[in-house]
Amino acid sequence: MSAPSAQGGKFGSRMGFIFAAAGSAIGLGNIWRFPYTTGEYGGAAFVLVYIGFVVLIGVPVLLAELSIGRASGKNPVGAFAALDPGEKKRWSLVGGLGVLTGFGILSFYAVIAGWTVSFLIRALSGTFAGGMTPEQSGELFTDIIASPGETVGMSAVFLLLTALVVRGGVSGGIERAAKILMPVFFLMLVILAGRAVTLPGADAGLRFLFAPDFSKLTPAGVMSALGQALFSLSLGMGAMITYGSYLQKKERLPVAGISVAIFDTLIAILAGLIIFPALFSAGATGAKGPGLVFVVMPAIFDKLPAGQAFGVAFYALLAVAALTSTMSLLEVVVAYFVGQRGWSREKAVWVVSGACFLMAVPSALSQGAVDGLGADVLGESFLDIMNILWGNVALGLGALLIAVFAGWRWGVNKAVEEMGGMPGGALWGIAVKYVCPIGIAVIMIYSLVNWEFL
Ligand code: TRP
Repeated sequence: MSAPSAQGGKFGSRMGFIFAAAGSAIGLGNIWRFPYTTGEYGGAAFVLVYIGFVVLIGVPVLLAELSIGRASGKNPVGAFAALDPGEKKRWSLVGGLGVLTGFGILSFYAVIAGWTVSFLIRALSGTFAGGMTPEQSGELFTDIIASPGETVGMSAVFLLLTALVVRGGVSGGIERAAKILMPVFFLMLVILAGRAVTLPGADAGLRFLFAPDFSKLTPAGVMSALGQALFSLSLGMGAMITYGSYLQKKERLPVAGISVAIFDTLIAILAGLIIFPALFSAGATGAKGPGLVFVVMPAIFDKLPAGQAFGVAFYALLAVAALTSTMSLLEVVVAYFVGQRGWSREKAVWVVSGACFLMAVPSALSQGAVDGLGADVLGESFLDIMNILWGNVALGLGALLIAVFAGWRWGVNKAVEEMGGMPGGALWGIAVKYVCPIGIAVIMIYSLVNWEFL
């Protein structure tokens, strides 16, 4: 949400805010990351744990971030400094960690977003016409991600788009467009899910998604479910602090926050309802990992009337959903340089996105283009390491510290007052003081000690 900050303004309406915050939350995390982590960690049991974390940790941290942001009216570093009652303002380091994390996430997120553009171009040129077997789409995917020119180039294209939007020029336009396009995307996902669940053999996919087998749940799965809950809601690094700072005083935060959490979770489940039935129906249960969505989707388009047009619309809308997420990531880093370092918006946008591009290159090249960056770094590719490090570990740490700050340092009473005195205020207080910090700490320590997160 760059326009309000550029003009020192605020969101005009609650719906404007909900759309911007939902735009940040809904993205590749729902459509790309959720299905493949669910696949990796055994299905329904993982999904249940994920939903549990959304409710017990996600919603409380989301409300904490929004109230910290609105109470201070500042970027994450400035926000902690403004609300920290201490002399030394040490808590602003949490904001600093958030800014770094935003940069780290953007660097690999832009690579995946670039893949969606690659697939959009293929869809436009009719590559999927006549249907594709999962083997064929798998081959196409492998070719695209192993092509250095294409992956690096598309990451650059995506970062450039993000920079142009955050620079302020078209941000009003993208928000207005997103308000129309997001409901369209939602409707499309419903149609796709409707088709997927009626494919022959789809029931095996539904069982995978909804019939929990807790024996498949590992500590690494629990850590990833926590990371996924935070990642999907854009929590743990100050994106929602930054958006909260643009929110008018009269808005009631709990309503806005809870609506965003519900939308976001619904969309992830919808994505699962498309991917797993389609996957099992195609008999391609071997397809897994970061390529899952890209391999499975082409197989389903030709099972729909006007499938080709559907394919084009799907990738276009996914790219827009990714763009409203990358906007929020870049916005946090830019808001820091503008608010704390006194840079001009223009300078901050170009320097940050340029640096981010340099960080994106090794991730882009790690998927087959350059050997040394592949699965030989700690047994994972460079991109996977970035994803786990920033997307799980750093977000977990950030969310823990944000909860502790809201619950113990700034204080539950002040936060609840900022939220407009909500009925469940006492429950929220227990969540940020005890449930979130202890829960996150236990999960993180356990998985770090066992190096299970890799
Ligand atoms: N939530 C977004 C998604 O699901 C990604 C994202 C945007 C994000 N901003 C964030 C993740 C801030 C963590 C923190 O695609």
